Amino acid sequence: MANKTIQTPRGTRDVLPEDQIYYRHIEKIARGVLDGLGYNQISLPHFESVELFNRSIGDATDIVQKELFLLESRKDSADAAQYALRPEGTAGCVRSYIQNGMGSWPQPVKLYYSGAMFRYERPQKGRYREFNQIGAEIFGDATARTDYLTIMTSWEILSRLGIKNMLVYANSIGCEKCRPKYITKLKKYYKDNFSKLCGSCQSRYEKNPLRLLDCKEAHCQEISKNAPSTLDNLCTDCKKHFSQTLEYLDYFNIKYDLDPSLVRGLDYYNKTVFEIVETTDLGRNNTLCGGGRYDGLVEQLGGVATPAVGFSIGVERLVSIMKEQGIVPDKIRQVEVCILQLGEKAKEVSKKVYDELSKNDINVFFIPSDEGLRPQIKYADKLGARYAAIIGQQEAVKNEVILKDLKNSSQEIFPVENIAAAIKKYIS
Ligand code: HAM
Repeated sequence: MANKTIQTPRGTRDVLPEDQIYYRHIEKIARGVLDGLGYNQISLPHFESVELFNRSIGDATDIVQKELFLLESRKDSADAAQYALRPEGTAGCVRSYIQNGMGSWPQPVKLYYSGAMFRYERPQKGRYREFNQIGAEIFGDATARTDYLTIMTSWEILSRLGIKNMLVYANSIGCEKCRPKYITKLKKYYKDNFSKLCGSCQSRYEKNPLRLLDCKEAHCQEISKNAPSTLDNLCTDCKKHFSQTLEYLDYFNIKYDLDPSLVRGLDYYNKTVFEIVETTDLGRNNTLCGGGRYDGLVEQLGGVATPAVGFSIGVERLVSIMKEQGIVPDKIRQVEVCILQLGEKAKEVSKKVYDELSKNDINVFFIPSDEGLRPQIKYADKLGARYAAIIGQQEAVKNEVILKDLKNSSQEIFPVENIAAAIKKYIS
């Protein structure tokens, strides 16, 4: 009987070489934008203590209740802590800010990260159990300028990638002063409609009433249409903060719509929350990016009260939209030149050419061969090289190289000392 083959776990995928080009391009553009705006990169563990996620994302949220990948400790381990694979990067970033005393660094502290996140979700298009995010967090600036900077940074990454039809959905969910009064109003409204709510909303009513607003069930959405809006119930400070944020968006022509039902699925937010989506003729499509302000989280996790705001972009969704929109990523530089050497005498000159090309940052491939020209050209073709630098007996004596374009078969002769400059002209 044939041995059974092993498949990837449900909700995970191999990123094959043909797709790496998208990931590499996204990473390059995102890094360029983030470095250019003064963010610093941070790398965080892929697993953290479960308590971190309970106390930040919130123990009544779907992410914590249903979607955490819990890690079982080895029975023989003295390490009793319970760990989980990270479902997102913000909690780890805040933990790191506190643990590394970043409160004493010059403020604001602007960090970015990229990497795999894990959520035990029901897999479907654009929803995986292992996916990648590029995210950024800004600590220590409570002004609307940073809300704007956060939205602008993610918008800039997506626009530089060439994504079309983007729209920001924005909302403010208030602060610890105005939100409790709003929640009381909201619950009063939903109390009268309680029996008509779906099962999940009935349990949200006590545990997480804000989430009543973004239920995807049609009849719950109907009820939420007439619910009191967060925007009509903001305190003066929150109102001013939000209108300043929107003024920046207007000033810089970032397209947005207000969405009073946008509350986000994580508990740590206050004030500004936003998502960036690709809109199509059919309406709102996949959400590419989500973020918002979370001024209470550093203190909640044991640090000194520090305002903060951030965003994360979902890389898999971005790749699929790039493909749908026909965006062609930058090529990856592979083998550019293959040196083909014929006969013993050419070995020394070939090595000189090899050193010269390597020194000049040209991707050169050379392993001396006893074969004739034809099989060597075939080999160079297989490697994907556009050019062959051919050194035979005659060229070796004259210290010259034949540069052959393997695509159109044209060729030219150059002195060895000019070969690097000549190739650079062709490949740049
Ligand atoms: P989030 O909205 O949960 O926010 O995730 C951000 C983005 O990650 C989503 O818009 C989506 O593109 C992508 N994403 C989420 N779940 C999946 C999945 N299962 N499969 C594929 N892509 C997915 C956060 O994670 C917050 N940490 C954002 C933030 C940073 N807020 C403040 N700072």
